[in-house]
Amino acid sequence: MPIDLQLKDKVAIITGGSLGLGAESARQMAAEGTKLVLVSRKEDPLEPICDELTGAHNADILPVIADLTDPAAPDAIARQTVDKFGRIDILANCAGAAQGGIFWEIPDAVWEQAFALKFFATVRMMRAVIPAMRDQKSGRIVTIVGDTGKQPNPRLLPGSASNAALLAVIKGLADEAGPDGISVNAVNPGPTKTGRITTLFDNLSRDTGKSLAEIEADFTKDSPFKTMGDPVEVARIVVFLCSEAASNITGTSILTDGGRSRALA
Ligand SMILES: NC(=O)c1ccc[n+]([C@@H]2O[C@H](COP(=O)([O-])OP(=O)(O)OC[C@H]3O[C@@H](n4cnc5c(N)ncnc54)[C@H](OP(=O)(O)O)[C@@H]3O)[C@@H](O)[C@H]2O)c1
Repeated sequence: MPIDLQLKDKVAIITGGSLGLGAESARQMAAEGTKLVLVSRKEDPLEPICDELTGAHNADILPVIADLTDPAAPDAIARQTVDKFGRIDILANCAGAAQGGIFWEIPDAVWEQAFALKFFATVRMMRAVIPAMRDQKSGRIVTIVGDTGKQPNPRLLPGSASNAALLAVIKGLADEAGPDGISVNAVNPGPTKTGRITTLFDNLSRDTGKSLAEIEADFTKDSPFKTMGDPVEVARIVVFLCSEAASNITGTSILTDGGRSRALA
């Protein structure tokens, strides 16, 4: 029997749904017939992905323009979702970005920005959707965290620290929300080819004088495959964790890093 993900007609909020890992997750959920709420700050990349998914899958999509660092945004997004679709089955937290640098050169503002988006916006989004999920006695919350939460990168400490904090919340919240049928999990990608990483590589190349090929080789040298991840590979894990196929999985994270991690599985 093929695996039935049972995602048809489920209602999913995907933050960061316009680009990168969020957009790829949206593509795969739309193909499964999931109704989507796609969130980003800019209309530019959000409109084309909505057009693409409506054209390809006749997807039912509510695009929401919002800055998730605004503390009021998560509640408003949850309200708009319930107003439009009547329920919230899935929250996929895919928005996020954090600047790196040398520890003693990173100003407070960079730490604050990393935590404002990656940590606080994710926490607020989780808190905003839980009432609807508790009423339904079911829900799936999946957050794209990152392998640096368990293996901090010395040049990416603001992101590494917010990732570690998120893993703690995910583990604890799984205990709290589980009795209401809500699962809470993380996906931990290693370096994966999205626009964010391309920009990071451009900056590293500018700062170090290394070529882009050398930078990519540095990032992949510890991977048995010696390759960067593809967004499709991360999105598949997001979709799996959001599906009924993951019905007995909560409070954990799945690493998709091509084997870079040295921790024992
Ligand atoms: N790519 C990787 O190698 C990698 C590895 C490990 C972990 N991750 C994590 O995966 C997540 C997604 O990364 P990505 O590579 O897909 O990034 P991306 O391609 O830059 O996409 C980021 C998405 O988040 C949205 N976003 C950014 N700031 C926002 C804000 N303040 N409010 C609302 N939306 C916002 C962006 O849209 P707007 O700019 O229009 O708002 C965009 O849709 C991040 O948390 C990242 O740390 C990525």
